[in-house]
Amino acid sequence: MEIDWQSLGFSYMPVKSNIRYKFSGGKWDDGILCSSDKIELSIASNCLHYGQAAFEGLKAFCCKDGKVRVFRPGENALRLNRTSAHIMGPEIPLEIFNEAVQRVVQDNIEYVPPYGTGGSLYIRPLLIGVTPQIGISASDDYIFLVLVSPVGPYYKGGIKPVDACVSEFDRAAPRGTGHIKIAGNYAASLYPTRKAKDMGCQVALFLDAAKREYIEEFGTSNFIGISHDGAYVTPDSSSILDSITNKSLRLIARDLGIEVERRPIKIEELSSFREVGACGTAVIITPVRNICHGEKIYRFRDEIGPVLKQLYDRMTGIQYGEVEDVHGWMQEIKLS
Ligand SMILES: Cc1ncc(COP(=O)(O)O)c(C=O)c1O
Repeated sequence: MEIDWQSLGFSYMPVKSNIRYKFSGGKWDDGILCSSDKIELSIASNCLHYGQAAFEGLKAFCCKDGKVRVFRPGENALRLNRTSAHIMGPEIPLEIFNEAVQRVVQDNIEYVPPYGTGGSLYIRPLLIGVTPQIGISASDDYIFLVLVSPVGPYYKGGIKPVDACVSEFDRAAPRGTGHIKIAGNYAASLYPTRKAKDMGCQVALFLDAAKREYIEEFGTSNFIGISHDGAYVTPDSSSILDSITNKSLRLIARDLGIEVERRPIKIEELSSFREVGACGTAVIITPVRNICHGEKIYRFRDEIGPVLKQLYDRMTGIQYGEVEDVHGWMQEIKLS
């Protein structure tokens, strides 16, 4: 197997194996590594019709010392269980989640991009309800699978800013499903994202659905603003995804002596931010250059600003084992 690590982007590559666990009769089985990336399902499976599908995204990194480590898998396990509970799915015990990640990364270790390439192994846990049914009710049977795929540095040749536009659509209702990671949220965001792209913007920024006064989040990432006095400001809302990257960056910010404010942010407050970023597992922080809101354009910087850069460097330093992991976030993949 020859992989050109430099040419990797963020797209799916079939690898050696994925791991699958089955839930039926109220119990999980022991899981099995499969070389095929196909699954056989009943055409009446719940997940296909009624969207009983939850997923996660995390990464394994080849660190400076040559060891492979995964960033905060326990957080993804907790979030997947919160999502599963909301869609009436089963609990995935932490031991099964951790074992699945360990086994699938071990088996695909040759696909972890080497240290220095800027790449990582993307890990995608997926939970689907597979009971064949016509009536709408929760499945009795589930598949929990974890697939992996090597991905390149998102920013080849430097961190590039994006333009965003405030979407005319809503992403999530106040007491809806925006805080969990169900497949349907992403199907619903495809059209708004297409509309943003038609306006020349790479990402859509969503407002609160009740009043359309407050910033919620981008289509696949949380919002961060750096205020005039250098504080890290991020929305507090029950309808956005509790980003693990954002949570980690808030701790890093405190470590660096940066004040952190988690509170509702009015859209007009954009004019007072010095830097704006979108944060998530895929890129850590994407700087935002412009945000268009109707006729108004809020302008930020053409490159990543100093505060976001400092946070980005600390985070990637921890992930690649270049900076001490003081919070114990990195979980080593044991190799025999
Ligand atoms: C809607 C949404 N918000 C935020 C995030 C960032 O979350 P995380 O940092 O856990 O990847 C994601 C990515 O999963 C997302 O899909």
